[in-house]
Amino acid sequence: MTHDVWRWQLALSVVLVYVCLCLSVWWWRKKSQSLVMVPPQKAWCVAYASQTGHAQALAEQTAKTLQLAGVAVQCLPLAQLTPSVMQQVERLLLIVSTYGEGDAPDMAQGFVQQTLSQRLDLSQLHYALLALGSRHYEPFCAFGVRLDGWLQQQGATPYFARIDVDNQDSTAIEQWRRQLVHLAGTNDSPDWTENTDFSEWILQERQLLNPHSQGAPIYYLQFSSTHPNAMTWQAGDLVQLSLGEQHTPRDYTVLSLPYQQHIALLVRLHYRATGEQGMASGLLARVPLGSTVALRVRQHPSFHLGVNNTRPLIFIVSGTGLAGALVHLRQQANDNHKTPCWLIFGERQRQYDFLCQQEIEHYQAQGIITRLDTVFSRDGQPLRYVQEVLLAEKKELLAWLQQGAAIYVCGSLQGMGQGVDAALKTIIGDDELAQLQRDGRYQRDVY
Ligand SMILES: Cc1cc2nc3c(=O)[nH]c(=O)nc-3n(C[C@H](O)[C@H](O)[C@H](O)COP(=O)(O)OP(=O)(O)OC[C@H]3O[C@@H](n4cnc5c(N)ncnc54)[C@H](O)[C@@H]3O)c2cc1C
Ligand SMILES: Cc1cc2nc3c(=O)[nH]c(=O)nc-3n(C[C@H](O)[C@H](O)[C@H](O)COP(=O)(O)O)c2cc1C
Repeated sequence: MTHDVWRWQLALSVVLVYVCLCLSVWWWRKKSQSLVMVPPQKAWCVAYASQTGHAQALAEQTAKTLQLAGVAVQCLPLAQLTPSVMQQVERLLLIVSTYGEGDAPDMAQGFVQQTLSQRLDLSQLHYALLALGSRHYEPFCAFGVRLDGWLQQQGATPYFARIDVDNQDSTAIEQWRRQLVHLAGTNDSPDWTENTDFSEWILQERQLLNPHSQGAPIYYLQFSSTHPNAMTWQAGDLVQLSLGEQHTPRDYTVLSLPYQQHIALLVRLHYRATGEQGMASGLLARVPLGSTVALRVRQHPSFHLGVNNTRPLIFIVSGTGLAGALVHLRQQANDNHKTPCWLIFGERQRQYDFLCQQEIEHYQAQGIITRLDTVFSRDGQPLRYVQEVLLAEKKELLAWLQQGAAIYVCGSLQGMGQGVDAALKTIIGDDELAQLQRDGRYQRDVY
């Protein structure tokens, strides 16, 4: 009997050892299988914050370069980096510009409020940061500097020191491209200068739109090109005027549509504090008709209508900012697409400064503009500025927003842009306006 028990115990132990052996082999196999199933290199994330499209274009080029190197990559707006996403991402490339007075671009305001205000453990995160700005503004690259400081405070580790870009400086961008190629472990990088060449355009027409105005002259300018592929842009895009290698090109909103086979602009002659004429606007005001200038079209995604195309639209514009509204109205007229449009236009005097009056009234008669408010600050009306129209028409504005309207603001930053922003906050509320911005329903092209 004792002998039997002993034999049973021995058999049980052998079985147990065998089962343990099987289990450990199974576990080891599973572990090594799961190791193989994890991608050899985890996905990179490229995030951008851009106002006028430069940072977005560089982010897309960055992502393309990584993809060509066989690296899995996701390119997204900075606003999508919520605190929980930030805590999961391990490899992050950031390309951000600075706007306003040292602020984040509008599209990143949600990130600033929701993520940049938090304390997070980001010790898992490695990142690199390309900060776009201009030394003509104070403080230089402020948003990039702020973001970099915050990331390091949260324990994230930079791959290399932040690269600051002054006015699209090609040396700094090339430095970024080289670091990137090194990180991706490749020599194969697409040409980043593709499709960015200026081409010659002939000045065909120049018309002073506001003779006798108390304000600086505003010109309607029209250019033609012999280049077969030149007519490719969409409503909302910008054109850059080259001033030669030593100077930063200047941006202008394109007023015409490609089917018109020309580029039209509204340009105000800029005077510096010294009384001198601005370089670009001065040149455009004086070059003889028939002469050529070097232009290139630049995508401006935040001012494309995109999904807002089917929403009611509210355009709040002043001065040359009218171009940003008129081009979309032209598009609506051309497409015979009628979504309710409310145009609020401000200038100094109706008699001299009602720019493109005939075209505006034509769209009103056609039902393209469903509501028009004009406000002239020097005509002694009770209301003087576009922001005052908003405050007076608060009920109407809220009703439009209730119906899903999107707001587009175009013109000068100081004065109008800031005044409109403050009025909208008063009417809608700070958080509600921030939400509209996150939803892409509050877009600004203010300069
Ligand atoms: C998105 C956008 C759209 C615009 N659309 C229009 C438009 O439709 N119509 C219009 O009239 N204007 C528009 N502008 C303004 C325009 O780009 C010019 O700023 C304006 O014409 C004055 O330029 P200027 O060269 O004549 O004057 P300048 O006095 O030579 O320059 C004016 C400003 O440009 C910057 N600047 C000057 N020199 C340099 C330099 N060497 N390097 C870098 N920056 C420098 C400074 O900020 C300066 O205050 C737009 C601007 C932006 C950003
Ligand atoms: C209205 C306006 C305000 C700007 N404010 C600043 C600023 O405060 N600091 C800075 O360094 N650059 C400033 N810039 C320069 C932009 O950051 C620079 O042009 C950048 O390349 C724009 O990139 P984006 O097209 O991706 O927005 C400003 C530009 C504009 C048009």
